Amino acid sequence: MAIERTFSIIKPDAVERNLIGDILKMITEAGLKIKGMRMIHMSKEQAEGFYAVHKERPFFGELVEYMTSGPVVVSCLEGENAIENYRKLMGATNPEQAEEGTIRARFGQNIQNNSCHGSDAPDTARNEVAFFFNEDELVG
Ligand code: CMP
Repeated sequence: MAIERTFSIIKPDAVERNLIGDILKMITEAGLKIKGMRMIHMSKEQAEGFYAVHKERPFFGELVEYMTSGPVVVSCLEGENAIENYRKLMGATNPEQAEEGTIRARFGQNIQNNSCHGSDAPDTARNEVAFFFNEDELVG
């Protein structure tokens, strides 16, 4: 299995509850290397653009409102099988269905305020990393 990259967001609910350190510890202990990282407060345009695939979904408006409600930590992670590994570490979208010990089971509040985001496939990972980072920033 080749080394690959994925994209992560530590979402407003987790930043607000001071969980950045706990989540980054889980990420690095899972063998994922942080290549680039930034704390930002997303604009409405950024959130709408990032989640454009969901724009027809009934939760889109609330999702954009939530993702712009406070700061988030965006990062590019790298490692063996990074996309799948990070998705396993996050657990199911709905924290109630997430496996014990996963980020969302430990910290998620509900299906929207689920503490973290991770890319779901290689093409989305590439696009999502490029949405927030220039290649020359990924130095880690
Ligand atoms: P994420 O993995 O970032 O992808 C889309 C986000 O929409 C999801 O996590 C949740 O934060 C949010 N969301 C809100 N309601 C739903 C829902 N019913 N199904 C999936 N995602 C939802």
